[in-house]
Amino acid sequence: MFNIAVFASGSGSNFQAILDSTTQNGILSDATICGLITNKAEIKAIDRAHSAGIEAVVLNPSVYPTAREYEASLLSTLEIWNTDLIVLAGYLRKIPVSVIDRYPNRILNIHPSLLPRFGGKGFYGMKVHKAVKEAGDHETGCTIHIVTEEFDDGPILAQERITISLSDSAEEIAARVLTLEHDLYPRVIASHMKSLT
Ligand code: GRF
Repeated sequence: MFNIAVFASGSGSNFQAILDSTTQNGILSDATICGLITNKAEIKAIDRAHSAGIEAVVLNPSVYPTAREYEASLLSTLEIWNTDLIVLAGYLRKIPVSVIDRYPNRILNIHPSLLPRFGGKGFYGMKVHKAVKEAGDHETGCTIHIVTEEFDDGPILAQERITISLSDSAEEIAARVLTLEHDLYPRVIASHMKSLT
């Protein structure tokens, strides 16, 4: 069994799609979610974890006296869970270098645009979809990549695209992209797991 730790900061709909793929549709039948790490309490992702009997740990870097202590907590939590792979699913904090070094090639992220377009600091949530609309782009999509020290950087594993029209609202674009994400992320995680074994 592959132990996947998911990191999320919000609704956790991608977390749910990954979780469902470990238990329902066979896509991630070789994996189990060993835990959820969030930087905030009272987010829907935590409720989703608890409903599924998955441990959720809130680790907020801002409440630790030093970055070192925060990183030690993060690393020891991942260690206790015997984590094989870290999956970021709407996680809005940077991953410390010490964690990237400990899990080389084993941290994935999903971003709701066709990177490198509309990626990097400040491009998250609806801001991405509004920027796509303002640019008048005719296509958008989502990207799954390996996590490096920079936001939304790192080798791209997969992209899926959709055609959009100028009359689509940012909210409509967001909803369509999110549906794509739910379909793509579990499949890319499964194929990445295979490449690691
Ligand atoms: C997704 O659009 C993902 O691409 C981005 O954050 C959003 C998270 O949505 N990184 P959810 O919390 O999984 O619903």
